[in-house]
Amino acid sequence: MHTLNINLPQKNYPIYIEKGLMNNIGEELKKIYKNKKIAVITDANVEKIYGQKIRDNLKNDFEVKMIVLEPGEKSKSIDVLQNVYDELLDFKITRADLIIAFGGGVVGDLTGFVSSTLLRGIPFVQIPTSLLAQIDSSVGGKVAVNLPKGKNLIGSFYHPEAVYIDPELLNTLDKRFLYDGMAEVIKYGCIRDENLFQNLLEYNSNKELFDSIEEIIYRCCKIKKNIVESDEKDTGERMILNFGHTLGHTVEKHFKYEKYTHGEAVAIGMYHITKKSENMGITQKGTLDKIKKILIKYKLPYELPNMNKKEVIETINLDKKNKGNDINIILLKRIGDSFLKKIDRKDMNMYI
Ligand code: GLY
Repeated sequence: MHTLNINLPQKNYPIYIEKGLMNNIGEELKKIYKNKKIAVITDANVEKIYGQKIRDNLKNDFEVKMIVLEPGEKSKSIDVLQNVYDELLDFKITRADLIIAFGGGVVGDLTGFVSSTLLRGIPFVQIPTSLLAQIDSSVGGKVAVNLPKGKNLIGSFYHPEAVYIDPELLNTLDKRFLYDGMAEVIKYGCIRDENLFQNLLEYNSNKELFDSIEEIIYRCCKIKKNIVESDEKDTGERMILNFGHTLGHTVEKHFKYEKYTHGEAVAIGMYHITKKSENMGITQKGTLDKIKKILIKYKLPYELPNMNKKEVIETINLDKKNKGNDINIILLKRIGDSFLKKIDRKDMNMYI
């Protein structure tokens, strides 16, 4: 088992990474939780495959309530939030009980937000089931739901008691969503870990990738841990995690979150911004070719779809991360070495 500890001024918590961890999850939880009631929030896809397994694992020691959401981004809404609050209150949950987020990013974000707000805060743990959630959204405490005006517009920083990552859960993940997560793995290689990037280029099959997946997840979580510990509230270094996201978010939004997965849009964003920065002489020559090669290998798109440039810039200007006259963009010096550049809004068109 790999273990990492997130050490923050007001909270420390462990991340456990081990193939087969789910087989023993009841025993693991008993080590950190002594009460009886557990509410498991999941979605219908995860429930279908792993619902019985988690029930069987918990039933001897806990009183379990399952709350099953419809899969997909639609569930990160105020309406669903209201229903989840109601179900938890009907279950008579208290601040001494525990909530489990058992799913991908949508389940993790919504469950974290519910946990942070209901009764002014109920402890929760993350058991992420998608690669994207295992290496990114389950770690670092960002929790949120969407509003009709945009994604993640209401949220907070609220950390789990622990994160339990079982890479075997990825065996049943649809391949498109495996590659969706791989885009963020590639991002970690680009921003901080040249060796990881190189290893990813060298795997010859999905079997080779899966043989190393525990180590890959560990390396990604370790990078995220270091970044979150130095900038929990996302005011500086944490923004490095947004490499490829400025343009990526506008691509996702333009196509109404239907045509591209998050990872696919980020792949386009990473390629495109590096194309610009390499042309400007900011990024070492040859970096773009390496990015293109790795994106093709992991079946990710890189070409920017046909979009109106003015509309793209307007969307970037509306992004909540951009304040005042400045826009923060993330650029690479080379693979494994990134930096944050503050640019004037009026210069954004040079990078699109
Ligand atoms: N997913 C980016 C962050 O956690 O800051």
